[in-house]
Amino acid sequence: MTAQPKRPAFGTLLTSHMAVAAYQDGRWSPSEIKPVALIELSPAAHVLHYASTCFEGFKAFRRPGAVHIFRMDRHIERMRQSARQLVLPEPDPQQLADMVRAVINRCRDAVPEAPGALYLRPILFGTTANIGAAATPAAEATLIVLASPVWDYFSGGMKPLRILVDDENTRSAAQMGMVKTGGNYAAALGPTLRARAQYQVDQVLFCPAGQVQETGAANFVLIRSGELLTRNLDTTFLHGVTRDSLLTLARDRGYKVSELPFDV
Ligand SMILES: Cc1ncc(COP(=O)(O)O)c(C=O)c1O
Repeated sequence: MTAQPKRPAFGTLLTSHMAVAAYQDGRWSPSEIKPVALIELSPAAHVLHYASTCFEGFKAFRRPGAVHIFRMDRHIERMRQSARQLVLPEPDPQQLADMVRAVINRCRDAVPEAPGALYLRPILFGTTANIGAAATPAAEATLIVLASPVWDYFSGGMKPLRILVDDENTRSAAQMGMVKTGGNYAAALGPTLRARAQYQVDQVLFCPAGQVQETGAANFVLIRSGELLTRNLDTTFLHGVTRDSLLTLARDRGYKVSELPFDV
């Protein structure tokens, strides 16, 4: 058996280039492809004080003769929804799609063979320099599309995860769960690390008052013969594109799909 080459941990390797656009005076600048490098930001930037930031994550796969992007339109729509919720300038969907394609085209050689993929990571953040803007949205913002060749998400490879069912904590503020913003991940980190140390689990399933929401980085679906159960879409958790895809496939295959609130 040949030994598998050691792969970089998920997200630690970036491609050579990124796409950048700036929002100023009420409109987006044309986007540019630039070498990945440090960015300049005022220490008074809105994002550093008031967390005006959201992001997306999705993959492009190498196929014979082409690179296919998995449901980019849904991810762009979710990013625009996050931006609206955070009162950030909404990325133009066509421009953002073009930025993603431009990065892939520039870095086509960096798209790994399956089962690897190129992970795309658009980020949007408020750059207005004003430390007194807690109740004022950022009027200026930057949109960057990063790309990262990835292999296994879980460093331990394909094995079942141990999950702590936490029936007290909530992953994020109830109205913010559907927003893909750094603050939600920061909020889930403490409980996740404590659970990891105390119970040797990989992840926490947040179920405040016993009501199942999601884990720190994934939706939760129960599957048994011919039947699939998951929480109905509301503001408390991220509306996963994988979840939507899975439900669509399940319905196509005749599964009974139930989307409703349920407890532990
Ligand atoms: C909190 C959270 N829930 C769910 C998901 C799954 O989302 P998707 O299926 O769109 O990748 C993610 C993905 O990163 C996530 O961070």
